[in-house]
Amino acid sequence: MQRQRGQWKSSVGFVLAAAGSAIGLGNIWRFPYVTGTNGGGAFVVIYLICILLICLPYVFAELVLGRRTSRNPVGAIRTLRPGSRWIAVGGLAVLTALFILSYYAVIAGWAFGYIFKSLLAPAMPHGAFTASPIVAVPLFAIFLVLTVLVVIGGIEHGIERWSKILMPVLLVLMLAVIVRGLTLDGAMKGVAFFLKPDFSKVTASVVVAALGQAFYSLSLGMGAMITYGSYLPKSANLRISGAYVALFDTMIALLAGFMIFPALFALGKDPASGPTLIFEVLPEIFKAMPLGGLVAVFFFILLSIAALTSTVSLLEVPVSYFVDERRWTRSRSVWTVGVIAFLIGLPSALSQGAVPSLSSMSLQGNTSFLYIMDFVWGNLSLAIGAMLLSIFVGWIWGVQRAGDALQRGSSTSERFVRVWGFFLRWVCPAFIFLVLLSLFPAGGRLLTLLGLS
Ligand code: PHE
Repeated sequence: MQRQRGQWKSSVGFVLAAAGSAIGLGNIWRFPYVTGTNGGGAFVVIYLICILLICLPYVFAELVLGRRTSRNPVGAIRTLRPGSRWIAVGGLAVLTALFILSYYAVIAGWAFGYIFKSLLAPAMPHGAFTASPIVAVPLFAIFLVLTVLVVIGGIEHGIERWSKILMPVLLVLMLAVIVRGLTLDGAMKGVAFFLKPDFSKVTASVVVAALGQAFYSLSLGMGAMITYGSYLPKSANLRISGAYVALFDTMIALLAGFMIFPALFALGKDPASGPTLIFEVLPEIFKAMPLGGLVAVFFFILLSIAALTSTVSLLEVPVSYFVDERRWTRSRSVWTVGVIAFLIGLPSALSQGAVPSLSSMSLQGNTSFLYIMDFVWGNLSLAIGAMLLSIFVGWIWGVQRAGDALQRGSSTSERFVRVWGFFLRWVCPAFIFLVLLSLFPAGGRLLTLLGLS
């Protein structure tokens, strides 16, 4: 059974694959613009606190759930609590992965297209680029096909092999772009915006954004870490591996800040430009740089690489469901899920100007079908999923049993398990619940009444 499902060959391979899942558009596209619209330094501090206090304990929960059961999110819960309603939480995770994949690959397609656009049509406005269906749809399809080709190779020969090659390349390319940005005149203003916290800017919505970004960035709440954990041998040290994944992901997000803000401020651009920040503002920055054309090509290659190792993990979650639970072959699962993701993603691809009704729809301040999908699946659903999964592991499966499973392969102490259990049972669900509540008008009023926001 183990062999059929596949397994990581080495713990380095696992860490790089899981870091590859975590590191993606979330770090390089989303983190800078969310930081920019939420005031800079203070947001970064809250983000780091969320990673440390909420996400890190929670990462261990997903990993141990996967490794203990060697199953996809649905199968993992079914193994531990057969026939219970909790299985639906696994179902939600699989669905969330599919829906995130559907719009994430659209944005990843733009990033991929920008490699060529930077060379061939640098003057074309971003809006015209994404509005054109003959540009956006084929790019989206190409990106999905690339993802399919990696995932079809399986765990060791597909995902692990490619992550091991692509992640170090990503780091080197990023460092090159950072050095270029930091050496521009006036770059230090950007460093100050990014690092100097101004806590007067912190509101409830800044905390919501920080927590949402933390989950999104670490690929949590939708079973990616359950699934990747399920390919770990029982001898792996989950605590160390999980901590490395969180560390690398946070490092790359911070590096992305150093890549964007110094250059942004050096050229006098607005950090609060929103989701189009890196696509609209960065190319202008590149244009003003010596060797800018080359830097632009580099940058979008690295963005595509980072996105690919993430779409791979998004695709792997539903694929593992079909392989484990439905006994489909890997290639049948991969192609089927790929085609479904393409169909679901079409409205997102067409929502940036191609189809007016899809482009103008709006929900809670998120305009266009694509950004509504990001809000519903990339924000809400991840938070709900993470809250329910931490309750499942902390209360239903139980900290003691989960702790025993966590201790296999590492010298985790009793005390560690107790502290971990406390975070998992109380801190994670309660904090996420409050954050979710504040997303709704009535909940927000309640929190204000209680003096919590
Ligand atoms: N963590 C990925 C990123 O930062 C996005 C992602 C979210 C991937 C959820 C898988 C699951 O880009």
